[in-house]
Amino acid sequence: MPTRERKDVYKLPAGDNTLEWYGKAVAKMRTRPATDPTSWSYQAGIHGFNKDNPYWAHVGPVPSPGQQTEYWKQCQHGSWYFLPWHRMYLAYFEQIVAKTIVDLGGPTDWSLPFWNYSDSNNPNATKLPPAFTAGTAASNPLQMPPAGQYPGRKHNFVEHKDVTLAALKTLVFQGAPTGVPPGFGGPVTGFSHSGKTHGDLEHLPHDMVHVDIGGAMGDPRTAGLDPIFWLHHANIDRLWQVWLNLGHSRHNPLDTAWLNFAFDFHDATGSPKALKVAEVLDTTKVLGHGYSYQGVPTSPPVAAEAMFANKLFAAAPGDLDDGMPPEVAAATDTSLTLDKSNTTTSLQLINSGRKTGSLHRFNTTIPGLAGAAPAANTNHVYLNFENITGKGVPPAYDVYLNLPDENRPDDAHFAGALPFFGVEAASSKDSQHNGSGQHYVFDVSDIVSTLKENSQWDPQHLKVHLQPRETPEPGCTIEIGRISLYVK
Ligand code: C2O
Repeated sequence: MPTRERKDVYKLPAGDNTLEWYGKAVAKMRTRPATDPTSWSYQAGIHGFNKDNPYWAHVGPVPSPGQQTEYWKQCQHGSWYFLPWHRMYLAYFEQIVAKTIVDLGGPTDWSLPFWNYSDSNNPNATKLPPAFTAGTAASNPLQMPPAGQYPGRKHNFVEHKDVTLAALKTLVFQGAPTGVPPGFGGPVTGFSHSGKTHGDLEHLPHDMVHVDIGGAMGDPRTAGLDPIFWLHHANIDRLWQVWLNLGHSRHNPLDTAWLNFAFDFHDATGSPKALKVAEVLDTTKVLGHGYSYQGVPTSPPVAAEAMFANKLFAAAPGDLDDGMPPEVAAATDTSLTLDKSNTTTSLQLINSGRKTGSLHRFNTTIPGLAGAAPAANTNHVYLNFENITGKGVPPAYDVYLNLPDENRPDDAHFAGALPFFGVEAASSKDSQHNGSGQHYVFDVSDIVSTLKENSQWDPQHLKVHLQPRETPEPGCTIEIGRISLYVK
């Protein structure tokens, strides 16, 4: 079987019918009952489900509780399984759509396109591809239908600053089990539906794209209902390969706990299947036929095993694991409730016991970051938002470190944004969560070193400024257990 090519949705040639057939398949799959694994509802339910959510109001009969436990609400977030799980999910989804298209009399080589919102050569990149916004939900199956008072989508675009690719700079795939640092692909966890600390790629751009589009896309329990979800995830999956191709010691985990972990799905005939992480690492072999991404070479420059054999881990200083976990150097002393107005909170230095070492490094080595000769072992500073709990789908909040004037937020102090993607599910105590909420970790090393260069850095005066992007909907709450600064 030929390898499928997943194409850039903005580069489909004139007259190409990939999206037209996608629309026909979506419409067909929506007619199938939610108990049919090849239905639109079932596919979205694999990601997440909440029977009380208005987007699910018309779902009809759903799979039995036993079926749901095994196959629904499986999405892996805040975890090193985030990337492989979504790769598997997309592969079966693509197979189901492709078979639906063939059954409708369409082409035999359909493959899922990707939405490259970060493409700086495309002035329209941050807009939803026009096929997804044309007409109305009644006339265009690629639209997302509204549900009661909720719009299908809040925006037909994403913000430029939300699709930057700083995550590609992270060299290590797996994050620390504590989540600091979070790693490119997410922290080491077990099965993790919703999870705590989102990995670098998951945080930005993944989560931000979800919340920028909003509506069903803004919550993992409804996101799979929107046809754009799948093109977003094809892009995230593509970025995994792009990251590997960047080399310099970037490689997938070699831990058997990761490689042998298996997840359950159904194929295009509706038969149960299981896949192990190790079976999806080479995209050209996934589900036998495999796939590649337009413009992205499929083989990493150096295989991880070869790097071990040849000791090629001569990466940038500081990105090698020196065995020293990051330690907390400062933190807030109370929890923080966010509302619709801007909030500024200060962090106090922690000067006790084993923390003293990190405090020392924090005070001495960090200034060295700005020096002419980079330290042999560059330090990292992480701003950590711990135990974030909440209700509803909050807006994203922009985060600034040591902003001199609250009325004039600027790029030099911008640490990133808090997307809170999936925060409600992560806050509820149930069989899959302990309810302790989410963590988000920002690498603020660059900001700290710039502040230092400009003599604006004073560890005695640390403040974090939070600014909501929009007014939260009524009933929406967010509480942050602690904000801390970690130093490695
Ligand atoms: Cu499992 Cu984009 O979410």
